[in-house]
Amino acid sequence: MNRTSRGDRVRRATVLRFALLGALALVLVVPAASFGGQAKKAAPQASTAACQLQVFSWWTGGGEAAGLQKLIGIWNTANPNCKFKNETVAGGAGTNAKAVLAQRLAAHKPPDSFQGHAGAELRDYIKAGQVLPLDFLYKKYHFDKVMPASLVNQIKYNGHIYSVPVNIHRANVLWYNPKVLKTAGITKVPANWTEFIAALDKAKAAGVIPLSMGEQWTGEHLWETVMIGAVGPTKWASLWKKGANWNTPAVTMGLNRFKTLLGYTNSDAASLTWQDAGKLVADGKAAFNVMGDWQDGYFSGTKSGGNLGIKPLKDYGWTAVPGTAGVYDWLSDSFTLPKGAPHKAAAIKWLAFLGSKHAQDTFNPVKGSIPARKDANAKLYGTYLKWALKQWKTDKLAGSFYHGVVTPNAWKTKVDTALGLFLQTKDVSTLQKSLASAAKAG
Ligand code: GAL
Repeated sequence: MNRTSRGDRVRRATVLRFALLGALALVLVVPAASFGGQAKKAAPQASTAACQLQVFSWWTGGGEAAGLQKLIGIWNTANPNCKFKNETVAGGAGTNAKAVLAQRLAAHKPPDSFQGHAGAELRDYIKAGQVLPLDFLYKKYHFDKVMPASLVNQIKYNGHIYSVPVNIHRANVLWYNPKVLKTAGITKVPANWTEFIAALDKAKAAGVIPLSMGEQWTGEHLWETVMIGAVGPTKWASLWKKGANWNTPAVTMGLNRFKTLLGYTNSDAASLTWQDAGKLVADGKAAFNVMGDWQDGYFSGTKSGGNLGIKPLKDYGWTAVPGTAGVYDWLSDSFTLPKGAPHKAAAIKWLAFLGSKHAQDTFNPVKGSIPARKDANAKLYGTYLKWALKQWKTDKLAGSFYHGVVTPNAWKTKVDTALGLFLQTKDVSTLQKSLASAAKAG
């Protein structure tokens, strides 16, 4: 495990270093014609040899790359003269990628399409004038008629639609190892806070890591699921309105719960990726882990695709994070048409493809997400995803904090800082004050 994590860390650091250097080189060295020249000259667009579809995402690792590879395969077969250029930047949840993307956008060197979460994150790009409306695409393909209204609302701004969602992920999933639970004498999968703590205590007594966790963002991800459980989905939504009152007993209770959970996590969390933390459960070294359902892609996907190839229900189980049963803490990966996209026609074709049933039913069973379209063929989806498809229909919705739905970037940065500090100090009162003042500024 340590060897893998160290390897991953080195790999991640190297990839990031190259990505940052690459982005800088693009910004500083590459002549405008290579990226933005298309707007001035019509010729490269017409010449198929010059065509290339540059797609920016952070889907590089286990549970992520394999889904993207499926899309790339279909694209390249259908578009032999406009091959896919995979401009990924490693790092779970886009923590590194978003910084690189921001540099490129600021320098007016966008890719042809980039991954942006539906909701507040997308609205930031829209307000900055960095992405173009896609009304023409929706008029032609009517994607908005086959996607849930709750999702379409999150990609709309001032009456225009700005992205094509490829999926819906669930963030509030408690993953567990059934064999470890059995050995530790945990006879019931915890459904509420009291049962959760009792189960964590049993795991601790059995000598395994009760709750595995990875680097900072995975702690923030855990935090949002605990808070949703403590305050409920309605209050959660209202906490993200500018000026909201975070000085309430329910918020304090949530923060204290989060602190309690941190006491059950592994001491090397900061140096682990989300895959490392998930693997601790798969390997029987940890009992539980909270992560989004990209974990299902990582757990059940093929080993040849960089995944673990383990069996649902037998090798791993899942349930809602205790306190959040009946709530879907959701997020959606959507793709955009950046202003100044160097191969605009190819980008439009890509977006039309992403909205199709074929693309969504090919990508999502591998990625570990349910499709954004309501007309998916459920038979193509695995055991976990069949459960998620059912939950989506009945659960109340709560928008994800970490993955772009409810929090604009400026506000999110303040919460990131406060939570990063809290992971060191565990000082609930300081954290609550910081959250309250961040909400005031909005
Ligand atoms: C999320 C993203 C998912 C998955 C995850 C882990 O932000 O929406 O698709 O990639 O990060 O990297």
